[in-house]
Amino acid sequence: MIPLPRARNIADLRLLAKARLPRMVFDYIDGGAEDEITLARNVDRLREHTLHWSVLKDISSIDTTTTIMGAESALPFFITPTAASRLFHYEGELAVARAATKAKTIYSMSTIGSTSVEDVAAVAPGPKWFQVYVWKDRGLVREGLARAKAAGFTALALTVDVAVAGNRERDPKNRFTIPPKISMTTALDVLSHPTWAYRLATSPRITPANFDGVGGDHPGGIMGFIDSQFDRTVSWKDAGWLVEQWDGPVAIKGVMSASDARECLAIGAGGVWVSNHGGRQLDRVSATIDALPEVVDAVSGRASVIFDGGVRRGTDILTALALGADGVAIGRAYLYGLGAGGEAGVSKALEILSTELRRDMALLGVTRIAEITRGHVSRPR
Ligand code: FNR
Ligand code: LAC
Repeated sequence: MIPLPRARNIADLRLLAKARLPRMVFDYIDGGAEDEITLARNVDRLREHTLHWSVLKDISSIDTTTTIMGAESALPFFITPTAASRLFHYEGELAVARAATKAKTIYSMSTIGSTSVEDVAAVAPGPKWFQVYVWKDRGLVREGLARAKAAGFTALALTVDVAVAGNRERDPKNRFTIPPKISMTTALDVLSHPTWAYRLATSPRITPANFDGVGGDHPGGIMGFIDSQFDRTVSWKDAGWLVEQWDGPVAIKGVMSASDARECLAIGAGGVWVSNHGGRQLDRVSATIDALPEVVDAVSGRASVIFDGGVRRGTDILTALALGADGVAIGRAYLYGLGAGGEAGVSKALEILSTELRRDMALLGVTRIAEITRGHVSRPR
């Protein structure tokens, strides 16, 4: 196994994470819904795009800074919200938020993060977004918003592709729960990763840290808490209610069509976030990169368009930017880094992608993010 500093790419970080984490934890990151068709599609379809360079351009100074939904970022890519980071490294959200802050990019935090918004804010003075769901208990939602606002979170992402929990079959196969339970079946997996097991045993229990006393100790763990709180009646009206509650930009995360993008504009969303939850929800939906162009056309500059799903290379970021995304969010790419080596691993993931992106921009013949346009990419059939 190569040491972390010598990881060449995100695929190397993935292998490091696989070696360091118990199988059930690695599979929770790596897996998707059912036959994992969409999970693979997100990655494959990005790779099928063709880039077109221009030669003999002065590329002596490359500038990757940009603005994403009102937030200035040194990079056109940023941290997507993912659940319970302390599962993957004992420093969890703090490790990720520190690495994002050092890279001067946006940190976004899951509603079921395992660290409080106050603790995250203390290490992340830069732009930070809070991800939410509209729950049955609207009071709980309002409380979460107030806490995030007071802590200095600047924007919201409302995730709308989790009407019910997705069917990730690796999890029950591995007897995986959040927090993990040590049983006869998981003991071998856990004990063969003693560093991880020791850290889990000596850290505070993994709970939804921003909803203490409510979901913190739900008998079904975090997943049970979510399922008990999901409101199956949630509609665009409720999304509009949320936009009104929050004084600041709100992105709707999980949009895959022009018609839904128009609904986002109608409720006053500041961002339309093209995502299929990394292939973890409805299997067989299209790759996010195939949904991006119609969303960009429908939005037509009236909101920021954010893209995620399958990004593992600088060229993936270039492809999404060329098709009109204003910002690209990365999920597994940084989670592999977190599992591979905590903050240093997340920094490594961000460094790998930014080094690739800068090199790719030079080779493409562009020096600014705004210069990356539709002419730089052609779509596969
Ligand atoms: C997620 N994602 C997610 N999204 C969200 O809105 N709230 C959440 O709590 C989570 N949790 C979560 C956990 C894990 C382990 C993963 C891998 C993903 C989805 C995430 O924000 C994003 O949409 C995808 O991860 C993007 O795809 P890639 O970059 O992982 O391929
Ligand atoms: C996930 C949920 C928790 O993707 O959002 O695991």
